[in-house]
Amino acid sequence: MMRTLRLSLRFVVPLALALFVLALLVVPLVDALTMKWFVRDVEIRSGLVADSVQALIAAPLAAGDLPAIRERLERTTRDDRLEALALCTDDGTMMVHTSAWPASLGCQVGPAIATAPRGLIEGRLHVTAKPLAQGDRSLGTLLVAHDMNFVRRRSADARTWVIGVFLLTGLIVTAITVLMAHLSLRGWIASVRDMLRAEMSRASPAAPALAPAPAPEMTPLLGDLRDMLRDIESERRLHDDTTLQWTPHTLRTLLREQLSGDEIIVVSNREPYIHETGPDGPVVRRPASGLVTAVEPVMRACSGTWIAHGSGSADRETVDARDRVGVPPRNPSYTLRRVWLTEAEEAGYYYGFSNEGLWPLCHIAHVRPVFRSADWEQYRLVNRRFADAVVAEAKTEDPVVLVQDYHFALVPRYVREQLPKATIIVFWHIPWPNPESFGICPWKREILEGLLGSDILGFHTRYHCKNFLETVDRFLEARIEHESSTITVAGQPTRVEAYPISIAWPDPPASETPPAERVAAARAALRERWELPESHCIALGVDRLDYTKGIIERLRAVERLLELHPEWIGRFTLIQIAAPSRAALDEYQRFQAQVRELAAHIDERFGGNGPPPVRLLVEHHDSESVQAHYRGCDVCVVTSLHDGMNLVAKEFIGARDDERGVLVLSQFAGAARELHEALIVNPYHIDQVAEALHAALTMPEAEQQARMHSMRQLVREFNVYRWAGRMLLDAGRLRRRARLHARLGETDTAPKT
Ligand code: F6P
Repeated sequence: MMRTLRLSLRFVVPLALALFVLALLVVPLVDALTMKWFVRDVEIRSGLVADSVQALIAAPLAAGDLPAIRERLERTTRDDRLEALALCTDDGTMMVHTSAWPASLGCQVGPAIATAPRGLIEGRLHVTAKPLAQGDRSLGTLLVAHDMNFVRRRSADARTWVIGVFLLTGLIVTAITVLMAHLSLRGWIASVRDMLRAEMSRASPAAPALAPAPAPEMTPLLGDLRDMLRDIESERRLHDDTTLQWTPHTLRTLLREQLSGDEIIVVSNREPYIHETGPDGPVVRRPASGLVTAVEPVMRACSGTWIAHGSGSADRETVDARDRVGVPPRNPSYTLRRVWLTEAEEAGYYYGFSNEGLWPLCHIAHVRPVFRSADWEQYRLVNRRFADAVVAEAKTEDPVVLVQDYHFALVPRYVREQLPKATIIVFWHIPWPNPESFGICPWKREILEGLLGSDILGFHTRYHCKNFLETVDRFLEARIEHESSTITVAGQPTRVEAYPISIAWPDPPASETPPAERVAAARAALRERWELPESHCIALGVDRLDYTKGIIERLRAVERLLELHPEWIGRFTLIQIAAPSRAALDEYQRFQAQVRELAAHIDERFGGNGPPPVRLLVEHHDSESVQAHYRGCDVCVVTSLHDGMNLVAKEFIGARDDERGVLVLSQFAGAARELHEALIVNPYHIDQVAEALHAALTMPEAEQQARMHSMRQLVREFNVYRWAGRMLLDAGRLRRRARLHARLGETDTAPKT
């Protein structure tokens, strides 16, 4: 009611104002016009009066009978509007006049009137002068005075009418306008609602399309609406990002509140805990894997089930009858479900298609991908087996399934077929190449369709998302909405989003010893361990022994450093921790041999009798040992030729609570997009890397501190809980929207009563 009143007033007030202004302009115009018309009327009447008077007075005038003339003039003035008459001689002498003739008006007005063709207005009188004649003989001039009060009366009447008509018209126009405005407004509101519902359908991958397409006249608004929704969305995300302190507790709370404690199932090839046969029974080993580094703390926080390949020699001994084991071994907080693979399966799916095909395909690192049909068959088979394991482990019809990495591109579609209500999130831990490079995969369509069975597909960087969208655009029939970064194939929408992965920020140590002292102790211990002098400078590399990591380039840069700055000979060593990886593959064996050979060559060339410039450690190191190296070194070197993120860079930063140490970081690692205070290098430019090493080794402490402080703040805030949290928040939103749409859908189809 109030709204209607306000709306009406919004139209009525301006209209009333406009009418008022119009009336102010029009009324004087009406006055002037009516006056003009009436004066002309009086003028004509005066002529008629003069004609009749001329006939009446001709005889008495010839007889010089002035009383008879007066009597006839008096009779003539009985007309209402005719006030008085006077007869003057041609020389301007009053001959006779009626009794009402004003004394102030003598015959002198005659000449003045002669020059005023429409007569003269004197006070309330209008006077005209009409010459009278009989044949050629002049009878004198008749002065005719009319009472103009009647003109004023009529003018006032006309004004009243005009204002009345204006007001009435105004009222009618206002009523019509308000009515039309109401009707249009209702139409607009309905159209905007349709648009909002259509946008909701678009933005909600799991929701059916409920809303009709917006009316054509609304389409110009559609872009604005989308921009607005996007702004709101990014503001909300920013708000989530800036207001939440991401910790395991935040993640648990989020699961409880946003996902109402829904079950979480992770699928990956690499398992987080590997049981190996040791001399005294099974021993647990943690694999060298960025994926495990990131996902494991998340699973500790969320519980749930992690399905992975049981690859350890003692894995079978440690599971229960349903192939499950609680982990972490000392304090279990989630379930590891192991899937067993035959040798042929592992050879085809893991070594073959995943690591000889997809791995080099996605890392542009100058190793040719190899695609074999037999490997593809195994890849499909194993993907199917893992999807079945997800379905078997699911306790509900709509679990949240987190599929990890390139080993399982087909799992999302396979799971979707069996659990259509599941929320499936895929995270692709390695880069996504451009469409030309990806196009050489013989099963590119199957891979893309498999991935697009998911609701959310995550990459480390926007650049990889863009490459993926372009690849789909090139090879599939799909609807791609770039604004919302959503791809829809066969009615299944997938949101493609960047979620930069990170590490669990380490807890502050329990000891009271200040960081600088603890680091000094770690430095001393490291030098003692590798028999290096106390003041010796150490650069550190920590990688899987993989050709994408740029280890050859790093060694060449060390060699070049010693050439360019010989002062470092005998004072500097690169400790390269190189965890053996995929050693069954020829390419990796060749690579390992190359690395060993080059390291030996540099040691021989520059080692002399002193400490070796390169210490190559081709062996697994547990996390404690790696941490000890991070804390004891001066420089950490990451020279990946192509890397999704590279968590070594972030782990090094996490370990340096003394805010010292320098990070040399490849521009081709995703981490370079976040860690701007590192010394960023092109690993192919050996001289540049050598100079960066020199700059790092000679960097003043104050500069080290400033750079490290800034990077620590970033990694602490953008930690792995935020990475997982943002994905799960997005998943939670999708699930809520899907539920809302399901309800709306029911309401919409319900019979209207
Ligand atoms: O981070 C990328 C990644 O390929 C993971 O998927 C994998 O767990 C890790 O590197 C180590 O590789 P792999 O499991 O083949 O030893």
